[in-house]
Amino acid sequence: MTRARALADAALPDLPVLPGGGVLGHLRAMAAAPHSFPATALQAHDGIVALRLGPRRIAAIGRPDLAREVLVTRADRYPRGRINRNLGAVIGDGLLATEGDLWRARRRRMQPSFRADRLGPVAAATEAAVAATTRRWTDGAPIDAGREAQRIAMRVIGRVLLSIDIADGQGGAFADAVQACLAQLMRRNWSLVRWPLWVPVPVNRAVNATRRTLEEFLGIELDRRLAGAPQPDDLLAALIRGRPEDPPLPRAALLNELKTLFAAGFETTATALTWLLHLLARHPAVAEALREEAAPVLGGRAPLPGDLPRLPLAAAVVEEAMRLYPPVYNMGRDCAAEDALGGYRIPRGTTVLVSIFGIHRNPALWDAPEEFRPGRFLGAGAAARRNLLPYAWGRHQCIGNHFADLELVVALLHIVQRVRLDPLETAPVGLRGRTTLVPDRPIRLRPVPQR
Ligand code: HEM
Repeated sequence: MTRARALADAALPDLPVLPGGGVLGHLRAMAAAPHSFPATALQAHDGIVALRLGPRRIAAIGRPDLAREVLVTRADRYPRGRINRNLGAVIGDGLLATEGDLWRARRRRMQPSFRADRLGPVAAATEAAVAATTRRWTDGAPIDAGREAQRIAMRVIGRVLLSIDIADGQGGAFADAVQACLAQLMRRNWSLVRWPLWVPVPVNRAVNATRRTLEEFLGIELDRRLAGAPQPDDLLAALIRGRPEDPPLPRAALLNELKTLFAAGFETTATALTWLLHLLARHPAVAEALREEAAPVLGGRAPLPGDLPRLPLAAAVVEEAMRLYPPVYNMGRDCAAEDALGGYRIPRGTTVLVSIFGIHRNPALWDAPEEFRPGRFLGAGAAARRNLLPYAWGRHQCIGNHFADLELVVALLHIVQRVRLDPLETAPVGLRGRTTLVPDRPIRLRPVPQR
């Protein structure tokens, strides 16, 4: 029987709606804790429940089998919708905000540059960025892990994307602007009234101002290249060139892809690295084990992409950090044609929220889900990866996944081999669901040089 027949024949029940919430439904709770509110609700409802956001109902899912249906097996029925379109307000029609033929053509054009065997420049750029950062860590002064991680991630994306050095002051101001704008967009995701961008309400003014800053900054290098400046071996050159069979892209399209790669590649990795620094400081035995693993493989040199298979603990530490603290903690899709999920009817037009945080912290899937245990991915535990999706699954799986893994492993190993990070506070660190999942306060650490 076809799926359509099955749907028509079996009068499937509507999704149960999570009780509670007043006239505005669960809007307030979602705004306060967009990572943990759906995750907690999902645990009590077998991984699927409807949330009320004002007049709208969205379907939240927190089970890997359902996430696979939405993202992989029935991805055609669940294209990107409202949430990614909203991002498009700033980054334009790039790889992260589009679907269909436009998305497919761009993905094919860009995919070769992100293959694991093409990422030597990422390792080199990361090593240089981390070395420049840790050189300043010798006077015993405390560091703010988030700021340092941003500095590293900004330098790496500047170098790999555009072959430019983003200076610290400029990078910090720019990072703040991008983050403030993404935060405004987050609010726009769930707000009841969404003004078109030309209406000069405060949120739109902020979004438009950041878009202009981003476009001016990236446009300078783009215009130099389009005017015939030499093309170094970087992502911008690969984007302009395309594959032999690709048509040339107009400036506006190139700018959109540049904005996309910049925004998608900067804040996510900066957040992941912030948490890694925090975890290293809280788990000195893991830092020591990483040093022991790295010494015979690297002999003091920086890791290259081909070294990763021989550094399983480093890979497991990165995976476990992103299981506990997935930088992208929710993903949205819109149901394009009536469907069934988990035995419930999903009406056409329903926004489906995949709670990555909920899946990563589900006690039915993980032993002691709140604990940092990289060993769960080693040896026989490797199978646990089937429930891990920090980079999503399916056709929209992050194009930068190998890039980010490599950047994080190179940064991690550089740091553990040179410094010990001591926490300055021992109280637990809380979580804030912003554009990415960030700590609720600055994480202050004291770097102690290692011999
Ligand atoms: C730890 C770091 C990262 C995490 C956790 C992450 C996570 C994700 C996730 C969950 C998606 C799917 C979003 C959706 O479909 O709605 C995605 C897509 C994407 N990411 Fe990443 N990402 C990371 C790093 C990067 C880097 C370094 C780049 C590029 C330099 C990048 C570029 C992209 C692009 C272009 C897409 C859209 C892919 C497509 O739809 O074809 N990301 N990422």
